[in-house]
Amino acid sequence: MKILVTGNMGYIGPCVVQHLRQSYPSATLIGLDMGYFASCLTNSEIFPECRVDIQYFGDVRNLPGKLFENTSAVVHLAAISNDPIGNKFEEATFDINCRASVELARRAKESGGSTFVFASSCSMYGSAEDRPRTEKSPLNPLTAYAKSKVLAEIDLEKLADKKFKVTSLRFCTACGMSERLRLDLVLNDFVAAAMASKNISILSDGTPWRPLINIKDMARAMDWAIKRDVSDGGEFLAVNVGSDEWNYQVKDLAEAVSRVLPDVDISINRNAQPDKRSYRVSFDLFRKLAPDHQPQVDLVSSIQELKDGLKAMNFSDPDFRNSRYIRLKVLTDLIDKGLLTENLRWQNNVD
Ligand SMILES: NC(=O)c1ccc[n+]([C@@H]2O[C@H](COP(=O)([O-])OP(=O)(O)OC[C@H]3O[C@@H](n4cnc5c(N)ncnc54)[C@H](O)[C@@H]3O)[C@@H](O)[C@H]2O)c1
Repeated sequence: MKILVTGNMGYIGPCVVQHLRQSYPSATLIGLDMGYFASCLTNSEIFPECRVDIQYFGDVRNLPGKLFENTSAVVHLAAISNDPIGNKFEEATFDINCRASVELARRAKESGGSTFVFASSCSMYGSAEDRPRTEKSPLNPLTAYAKSKVLAEIDLEKLADKKFKVTSLRFCTACGMSERLRLDLVLNDFVAAAMASKNISILSDGTPWRPLINIKDMARAMDWAIKRDVSDGGEFLAVNVGSDEWNYQVKDLAEAVSRVLPDVDISINRNAQPDKRSYRVSFDLFRKLAPDHQPQVDLVSSIQELKDGLKAMNFSDPDFRNSRYIRLKVLTDLIDKGLLTENLRWQNNVD
């Protein structure tokens, strides 16, 4: 079996590759990544890309032909991966997250691939705090990032058939330690802030809902999506991935962090504008379809693993929101240095 993982050099990718390596020991794993965050390693024992058999450094907007030879499964993580980057680089976001994603699936299908797993996002439900959203709820994407995921799903559905199974995993907000850690995610930010400055500052009034999932459980869900039978959900399946118990309010997350890391102050912005990214999600369908691949890592374990990981990095930077652990900052720095174009392509003369 040959599995292509795009975006394997990001935050979630190293964990997904590690999981697939264990789950399919004799599979050939291929990575494809632009390498935007290649240098953002965090306390990794090895270069994580050693775990794939072949690593391509390339752009999903310009796919190498050889990529698809005998590739049966594609796990597609490569994307502009959050709202702040999506807002700043709108055109590249639609190009990469939507147009290139659909072309990747089309080429995989044309070459005889049978399984396509798409890393989608629950942010496509928009503001949704009145009741948990199911896969049948209307979509209300509010940002370029969320819109790009919706548009990709619409076209991916058209490609699915008996021979080409497409699974769109609508993940909630990720958390947890990675060999390429990001701190622009709510729980990761809170743990980092608690450790660096003993103060968690909540930018909202603390009431927004933010369902979470640990990256290890995301990897397990992707494994399930590769294996799933089409009788479980159909040729095309869009499914919310997470667990009902992990529908937290932001203030609950801060309090949970302060229980693991005592003597931490929590400041709440009582005058904040309502946060449009407040949403609750129902994970009933995922529970029904994937009973053996339900999330396992609980909130306290995620906080603990982040704490241990940051400690091992000797992390102490109170200004981390302006550091290389923030995706937008990494990309804008690369542009400022003339290494990356405004379209997020590498300059030809990188040297
Ligand atoms: N982190 C989350 O909270 C979360 C939640 C839901 C869904 N997702 C989705 O999961 C996927 C992975 O997220 P992540 O947190 O690891 O993101 P990330 O930004 O850390 O990693 C994305 C990777 O994709 C690569 N990439 C971007 N554009 C590319 C291109 N044009 N060609 C080739 N490679 C390219 C980047 O170099 C990077 O290594 C994304 O699709 C994201 O939308 C993430």
